[in-house]
Amino acid sequence: MFQYIIISFLSLVLSLGIGLPVFAAEPKVETPSTAIVIFGATGDLTAKKLAPALYHLAIDGKLAEKTAIVGIGRRDYSSEEFRKQLHDAIQINSRTKSVDDAFWNHFQNKISYQRLDFDRDEGYEQLSEDLKKQNNRVYYLATQPSYFPQIVQKLSEHGLIKDPDRDKEWSRIVIEKPFGSDLDSAIALQKQLSEYLDESQIYRIDHFLGKEGIQNLISFRFEDSLFEPLWNNRYIDHVQITLSEDIGIGTRANFWEETGLLRDLFQNHLMQILALVAMEPPSTLQASDVHAAKIKLLNAIQPFNLKEVDQLAISGQYDSGNVKGIQVSGYRQEKGVPADSLVETFAAAKLSIDNERWKGVPFYLRAGKRLPAKTTEIAVVFKGKDGKENGHTLFIRIQPDAGIFLRKFAKNADDPRPLIRLDAPSKKPPVEAYEKLLADCIQGNASLFVQADEQIASWRLWTPLIDHWQSHPPQAFPNYKAGTWGPKASEELVHWEILEISKS
Ligand SMILES: NC(=O)c1ccc[n+]([C@@H]2O[C@H](COP(=O)([O-])OP(=O)(O)OC[C@H]3O[C@@H](n4cnc5c(N)ncnc54)[C@H](OP(=O)(O)O)[C@@H]3O)[C@@H](O)[C@H]2O)c1
Repeated sequence: MFQYIIISFLSLVLSLGIGLPVFAAEPKVETPSTAIVIFGATGDLTAKKLAPALYHLAIDGKLAEKTAIVGIGRRDYSSEEFRKQLHDAIQINSRTKSVDDAFWNHFQNKISYQRLDFDRDEGYEQLSEDLKKQNNRVYYLATQPSYFPQIVQKLSEHGLIKDPDRDKEWSRIVIEKPFGSDLDSAIALQKQLSEYLDESQIYRIDHFLGKEGIQNLISFRFEDSLFEPLWNNRYIDHVQITLSEDIGIGTRANFWEETGLLRDLFQNHLMQILALVAMEPPSTLQASDVHAAKIKLLNAIQPFNLKEVDQLAISGQYDSGNVKGIQVSGYRQEKGVPADSLVETFAAAKLSIDNERWKGVPFYLRAGKRLPAKTTEIAVVFKGKDGKENGHTLFIRIQPDAGIFLRKFAKNADDPRPLIRLDAPSKKPPVEAYEKLLADCIQGNASLFVQADEQIASWRLWTPLIDHWQSHPPQAFPNYKAGTWGPKASEELVHWEILEISKS
C-alpha cells in the first residue's frame, strides 16, 4: 500500500509539480479606498518587515490604487521625513534590497505620518478627520502588546471602528505577537479586545503561517490527498517538529529574560505547525472551516501529567561553544543576562493527541537557540515492516529552502538511505510572509491568522509547564553546548531526524 502510494504520488508530482495553494478567501471585498494605519510606524517591525512588504505589494500591483498608508508614532516627524525613513528601510530590508525610484516617486504620495500619543485623544480626533476618505481600514498594531486594549478603546470611542453588523465598510485590527504571556493574561486580553471588536475583525498574526513552506504543507495535506490514506496511526510511528536557530539572543536580554523559549516559540509557531500537520482535513479551505478543524485538534492534545512531566518535557540553556566554526559565549555571559539565570533557551516535549487518527502516535516538538543550524522542519516517521519504527521518513521543510523530501528505508542499518525530493522547487524567490499575510488581511481572508480560542487552547496546554519549571528550577543549567542539538535528555526522548542539507 505504502509503496503504491509513493509511486503514484511521485508520478503525479513529477508530471504536475505540487500546485500552489492555498486557503480560500471568504467572499472577496473590493477595496477601493483602504487606509492601512500602522501604530508604531517608527519602530523596528515597520522598518524590517511592514515597509518592505507594503512596497512589494504595491510594486506587484497587489495594493488598490486608492490605498493610503498612515504611519503613527510619537516622534515629531513630518510626512516627508517619515517617507525618507521608510525608503531607506526598504532599501536595506526588502527582499530585493533596492527601491525603484520611478515607482517610489508615485508610491510615496500614498504615505503620510501622524504624530499621536496612544493615550491622548487629540491624535485620534485628527486621525478621524484624516481617514474620512477611506471607507475601509486596516489598523496594524506594531506596538508593545500592553498598548493593544488602549488603542482599540480609543479607536472605538472616536468612531474609527466600523460595525461589522451594520456598516458596509470594514475595519480590521492586526495584532502582533505575543498574545498574552500565559493563560490568564491571554484570556484577560481577549476580554478587553472583545469589548470593542467582533472576533471577525481581529487578525492575530503568526508570521510563520505566511511562509512558503507552510503554504506547501497546506497544499500537500489538503490539496494533494495521496498521502491522506497513510496519515494516521496505522502507518505513522511518530512525528517530529524542529524549530532551531543558530543565533543566540543578541541584544535582547531583557526580552528573553521575561519570555523564555516556551513562550517565544512553542505556544505560537510550533503549535500552529502541529495543528496543520495533524488536524482533520477541513470541509472547505475557508477560514471558518480551517479554524474549526484546528481548534478541534488543539483541544484533543492531552494536558501534561505533572507527575511524569520530567520524562515528557526537557528544558535547556546554552553554554559557550562553537557554532559553524565560530566560538560563542554561553547564555549567562550574554550582555544583560544575570549570571545565575534560569531562563530556558531550549525545550523539547512529547505530546499525545487523543483522537482516532493519532491514538498511540507521539508528537515530539523541539526548539532552541544556538543549535547547529537554522531550520524549521517536520519529520513524519513511518512505521517499517511489521509495524515497527524505521520505515520511510517524510520531511516537510518550512525554512530555509522550503521543500518536501522522502528519505527511504534502508534494508540494512548501515546502508545509505536515498533522499528523494517530492515537490517541484519554486523558480521564483519566495514572497515574504508579511506580504502574504498583509494581502490576505486586506482581502478579508483570515484563514492564516490565529483565532482567540486557538491561542487560548495553546496557553492552556503550556502554562502548567511554564509554572512547573518556575516552581522546580533546573539544577544543571547550562546543560548544552552552543552548536549542539540541545541537552542529552532531549536525544533520549527520541532519535531526532534532520534533513542532511540543514546541517550545512
Ligand atoms: N521587531 C521585530 O522584528 C518584531 C518581530 C516580531 C514581532 N514583533 C512585535 O511587534 C511589536 C512592535 O515591536 P518593535 O520591535 O517594532 O518595537 P519598537 O521598535 O520598540 O517600536 C515601538 C513603536 O511604538 C511607538 N510607541 C511606543 N509607545 C508609544 C506611545 N505611548 N504613543 C505613541 N507611539 C508609541 C514607538 O514610537 P516612537 O519610537 O516614535 O516613540 C515605535 O514606533 C511588538 O509587539 C513586538 O513583540 C517585533
